[in-house]
Amino acid sequence: MSRLAMFGGTRTVDADAGASPAAAWPIVTDAEREAVLRVLDSGRLTSVERGEVQLLEQEWANYSGVRHCAALSSGTAAIELALVATRLEPGAEVLVPAFSFVATAAAPALRGFVPVYVDIDPVTYTIDPAAAAAAITPRTQAILAVHLHGLPCDMDALRALADRHGLFLVEDAAQAHGATYRGRQTGALGDVAAFSLNASKNLPTSGEGGLLTTDDESLYERVVLHRQFGEDLTGRGERAYLSKVIAGNAKLSSVQAAFTRCQLARLTERHEQRDRNVRRFLGRLAALGGIVTPRCPDDRTHAWFQLRLRFDNEKMGCPDVAPGALRTMLQRALRAEGVPVRPYQSLPLPAQPALRAALPPDRPYRPEDHPTTLAVIEDSLTMQRWHLNPAAGPLLERCADAFEKVWDQLELLLPPARSMTYRPLWQTEVPAAHA
Ligand SMILES: Cc1ncc(COP(=O)(O)O)c(C=O)c1O
Repeated sequence: MSRLAMFGGTRTVDADAGASPAAAWPIVTDAEREAVLRVLDSGRLTSVERGEVQLLEQEWANYSGVRHCAALSSGTAAIELALVATRLEPGAEVLVPAFSFVATAAAPALRGFVPVYVDIDPVTYTIDPAAAAAAITPRTQAILAVHLHGLPCDMDALRALADRHGLFLVEDAAQAHGATYRGRQTGALGDVAAFSLNASKNLPTSGEGGLLTTDDESLYERVVLHRQFGEDLTGRGERAYLSKVIAGNAKLSSVQAAFTRCQLARLTERHEQRDRNVRRFLGRLAALGGIVTPRCPDDRTHAWFQLRLRFDNEKMGCPDVAPGALRTMLQRALRAEGVPVRPYQSLPLPAQPALRAALPPDRPYRPEDHPTTLAVIEDSLTMQRWHLNPAAGPLLERCADAFEKVWDQLELLLPPARSMTYRPLWQTEVPAAHA
């Protein structure tokens, strides 16, 4: 048995693997270079009519199976404008999962709405419809359904709940381009949806960007108004400089739209190869005792934006080791072998210092309100980025070798895990900064 790298043995995955072309993301080919240069040479750099931005909007609307798409400056802006354009009342409550990226809750808070945090489902890690039902009050006006890691939420249950209470159903599909629920694309599953085009995402741009999709024409028109200074720029002729609502600037540039159009042309083909690579990798990991690999219910497809791995201390034969301590030792051992595992989200959203400071006084943060979120944070790690590249198959095989090596010698990790002083971040009060 070869010695673990953390104890001086040879690492399983090459040190430069992360910088290799097989792990690169986004993939930049001559198509992207030429498209970007074409825009630069055209002189049409802003979102001019019938330019790259409008073409991207049309193509994404077609791909998603919706009537309208608006290109925006970020996924966060897309969530903000989705909520603004649904015309929620000031102070309206928006149900959000307690487990997500901070923008899911910051977007409603920035627009004067109140995020109300709901625990997640232990299998899908997405908002639990039963817990969402229990969180509804007379002030609730929307549900923000986050397709976390690329797996669509239980949208039928959420739709039924929204309809029963007259709520808007908004998709945060920032991580879920191309995933499907009962044969329909994300982006077409709620009243309105927000996607991120950040360079790390499955459908990236060369920096920051976002897309908003909806079938609702008047909602779309309000988004367009809010994306550019409240001006109606759909008519022909001279710009009138007439602002109909107070609004900022959340446009996407032509260069970025051109880059994303090239990525979109390869989205399906890359997804199919990624799906094969990831399933093979997860299959090898699932054979190791105690690793809970992501599950994708039969009625959905997964975009595999991130791969979350939970570690079951009972099945690993060490129920006495705190999940967080076990996870910390596994992270050290796997990273020493060259596997880039890392936590993704170390706090439930309401425990984020900024969001915690904004909680209504009658609803302080209580860890016991979101037990599944806390359990997942404590006992899991994620794989990010490498697996997005369709050429990453052999690299993932090496990563699986590393997991097998560590699992063969798990007993060596248990004494340090037992003796370490471990304190979860959510038990530490970090003050919010003064704005
Ligand atoms: C779930 C989720 N929502 C919203 C966002 C915000 O997207 P952006 O970074 O494009 O503003 C992200 C970005 O990572 C995300 O993961």
